Amino acid sequence: NIPSIVATGRQLCDIELLMSCAFNPVDGFMGSKDFNAVLENMRLSSGKLWPMPITLDVSEDFIKSNDISEGSKFLIRDEEGVALAAVSVTEIWEPDKSKEAMCVYGSTDTDHPGVDYLLNVSEKIYVGGTLEKLEMPRHYDFRDLRHTPESLKKEFDRLGWDKIVAFQTRNPMHKAHKEICYRAASMNGANLLIHPVVGMTRPGDVNHYSRVRFYKRILEQFPTDFAFLSLLPLAMRMAGPREALWHALIRKNYGCSHIIIGRDHAGPGNDSGGNPFYGPYDAQDLVEKFKDEIGISMVPFKMVVYAEGASDYVSIDEVPDGENVLTISGTEFRQRLENGDDIPDWFSYPEIVDELRLVYPLQ
Ligand code: ADX
Repeated sequence: NIPSIVATGRQLCDIELLMSCAFNPVDGFMGSKDFNAVLENMRLSSGKLWPMPITLDVSEDFIKSNDISEGSKFLIRDEEGVALAAVSVTEIWEPDKSKEAMCVYGSTDTDHPGVDYLLNVSEKIYVGGTLEKLEMPRHYDFRDLRHTPESLKKEFDRLGWDKIVAFQTRNPMHKAHKEICYRAASMNGANLLIHPVVGMTRPGDVNHYSRVRFYKRILEQFPTDFAFLSLLPLAMRMAGPREALWHALIRKNYGCSHIIIGRDHAGPGNDSGGNPFYGPYDAQDLVEKFKDEIGISMVPFKMVVYAEGASDYVSIDEVPDGENVLTISGTEFRQRLENGDDIPDWFSYPEIVDELRLVYPLQ
């Protein structure tokens, strides 16, 4: 007789990471005390650092028609009806979503995909509660590339790796990304974890099935036993600086010692006035501010560009005088793919470009 809800895409991701301890120390859906502490101070009410609200939004109708109140229990199911978790309700409240938008995203502009989700998609009521784990969400794709924090740490032990640099990504990887990864790991005498998000990313991104095929190809570009690929079922919020700090804490939970934060990390693009929501290095600045307590080191990168004369990638602040710098913006790259125009060899690998052409124009 227990009532149940069907998890949204985002809730499915959050539940998986709550139940696998990837969100440690958060292990349930936040009540208003933790929620407000996270909004105002980027901390849980216990004082522990945590920048992102993890909340369970439900409709008013569900609460009313099932008589849900403090102390009630309900189930969260996947779309096939499998019960994943039982929630023991500790609080039901209506959040101040404008405050949430301003605190987490620094904006109420719905051109921001995180703000749009918050104000236009998510339900009105939040339920705080503890989670009883019944069954992990099922995946039928790339099973060998999926790990919990515990199973990934076991892989690192098996490989004998103790210094690991994580690379967060939601995009296809090209030569610049490979260089950033190679340098970050080499500079730190570490190995590399390519840790792409396959949960929810920015609307309009390349689907994760294609991306995983590209990551497998990129893996072959590294020396043997240098890099490992694992998929992260995270629902990104595209919250720039706060998201970067969150990414760092999550990667620490997966056993990584370092995380790469480059230019415009988890950036949502431009606002309705055509200006970027965040500065290109705001994410690095915020992670730097908390470096003594996050338990993982940041490997920052300024924008990396291709130096034509040197035939190599260089940081934008280290370009020699007189050097000709080449870049292709995301928009230009997409246009070239859609028009079937040439993509130069300095930018990417022909086999990745050929496969990418198959998915453009994106649906
Ligand atoms: S993100 O939303 O996951 O940050 P993306 O997959 O494009 O987007 O970027 C992954 C990581 O690589 C981020 O840390 C980003 O800052 C970094 N990055 C991507 N391209 C560059 C570049 N040309 N120069 C420096 N850093 C970059």
